[in-house]
Amino acid sequence: MSQSLDIIFQELDSVQTSFETEIQQIAEPDALETLRVKYLGRKGQVAQFFKKIGTLPGPDRPRFGERLNALKTSLQSSIDEAQSHFSRNNGESKDKLDLSLPGIAPSIGHRNALMLVLDEIKYIFRGMGFGVRTGRLIENEYYNFEALNVPDDHPSKDLQDTFYLENALLLRTHTSPVQIHTMENENPPIRIIAPGRCFRKDAPDATHSPEFHQVEGLAVGEGISLSHLKGTLVSFARKLFGEDTQVRFRPSFFPFTEPSAEMDVYFDDRLGWLEILGSGMVDPNVFEAVKIDPDKYTGFAFGMGVERIAMLKYQIDDIRHFYENDTRFLRQF
Ligand code: PHE
Repeated sequence: MSQSLDIIFQELDSVQTSFETEIQQIAEPDALETLRVKYLGRKGQVAQFFKKIGTLPGPDRPRFGERLNALKTSLQSSIDEAQSHFSRNNGESKDKLDLSLPGIAPSIGHRNALMLVLDEIKYIFRGMGFGVRTGRLIENEYYNFEALNVPDDHPSKDLQDTFYLENALLLRTHTSPVQIHTMENENPPIRIIAPGRCFRKDAPDATHSPEFHQVEGLAVGEGISLSHLKGTLVSFARKLFGEDTQVRFRPSFFPFTEPSAEMDVYFDDRLGWLEILGSGMVDPNVFEAVKIDPDKYTGFAFGMGVERIAMLKYQIDDIRHFYENDTRFLRQF
């Protein structure tokens, strides 16, 4: 190595050293830019060294050039690194990862009030030994009406009430057809509930919806009496609405039960007694239709509207809230 190249390499080393000392002290982006200009600018220190290439003897030039390029690259990458450090910590500080902040809870939604009440109803009846059956939404006249002892001229068969489909099919108007399917497929003793959607041609208003939910119940066995019906339904009402809930039964009529009764619950002095379900002892004609011997077996059945119960339980004044997906409503339960 020639004398002059040796000296020049020492100068380059000291440029590197002083650059490293200076960059350590830099605390803000402007100072970094000043430093960059001082060393790497068009008239900066590195540029001055490039000018010296011409003054060196020919054979030394490649080694000098190589060394000088290495210095330039090294300074530039230190500057780049410092620059990205500044932009991480200042310019985009809102993106900084702060592990001391509590996390953002993901919004996963929750169950509709109707489904909450339905779950509660299922839970209560399961506790009394009732299994859960799902029926079908599309039925025919036989399952929705005839097998249930509903005469041909019954008003619920009227075109006004029932959504008729093609091929003599219809949308079920109540969950009672599940009684028939269950008794066709299972032998007594039977104890089931059947929750699900039903459909009637009702104009929507605060208390009506063409699509609504019912829970059907059926118990069939030897020696089942009206007192089993009452005991089951009274304890259901007290579990759902509270232990001191007052309950009364009013005689009523349904084609598929005999005798029949509606059950009312006393809410408060303003609301008074309100009907929450229909019930009765399974009519012998229904047993005949499903080939269960009415001399051997008896049973009770009941059916309740889930919307009505949810509205009473949560003091909801309009049935349409359940279906409109307004999160201000849904979030309350
Ligand atoms: N299916 C009847 C209705 O929709 C309710 C009911 C079911 C009544 C079972 C008695 C027995 O109104």
